[in-house]
Amino acid sequence: MQISSHSEEETLGLGMALARLVRPGMVVALHGDLGAGKTVLSRGVARGLGITEPVTSPTFTVVQEYRVPGGIWFYHLDMYRITDEQAALAFGIEDYLFAANAIALVEWPERIAGLLRTGAVVDITLIHAGEDRRWLELPDDIGARLARA
Ligand SMILES: Nc1ncnc2c1ncn2[C@@H]1O[C@H](COP(=O)(O)OP(=O)(O)OP(=O)(O)O)[C@@H](O)[C@H]1O
Ligand SMILES: [Mg+2]
Repeated sequence: MQISSHSEEETLGLGMALARLVRPGMVVALHGDLGAGKTVLSRGVARGLGITEPVTSPTFTVVQEYRVPGGIWFYHLDMYRITDEQAALAFGIEDYLFAANAIALVEWPERIAGLLRTGAVVDITLIHAGEDRRWLELPDDIGARLARA
């Protein structure tokens, strides 16, 4: 299903609501073009998890690790500069995906599609629909719960 957002703040709020639905061991795969709002949504998830550090795009660092209050981790990955799965494996991606004690969120997951084929992956796509308008396409069950939040 699709949910619309009319502002950066609204997408942040959707991310915060999403944080209440994700569990350790899950991977959120965030699809969408440059500037679609993937990092904004990620920032909302981090805030919703109780992370107070600023969340910046890990485009150059590939991964940023944040400690979540309560003892788990939030891994924010950006595969934009990862050319293929071999490069991701060489980087040690497997330590971040599906870690039992972490929630992983991946921007540009298409780069490592083969590595995401199994497991608890939630696919979310952000689509440009005008200057401040975006569509979030997401699984019905999660979408229904976000729409109610
Ligand atoms: N409804 C909206 N939701 C999210 N972002 C919005 C919205 N409206 C406008 N924006 C703007 O769009 C931009 C989204 O940037 P963001 O860094 O989140 O994109 P991204 O998908 O992570 O891109 P990249 O692939 O470069 O990492 C921000 O400048 C934000 O202010
Ligand atoms: Mg980004």
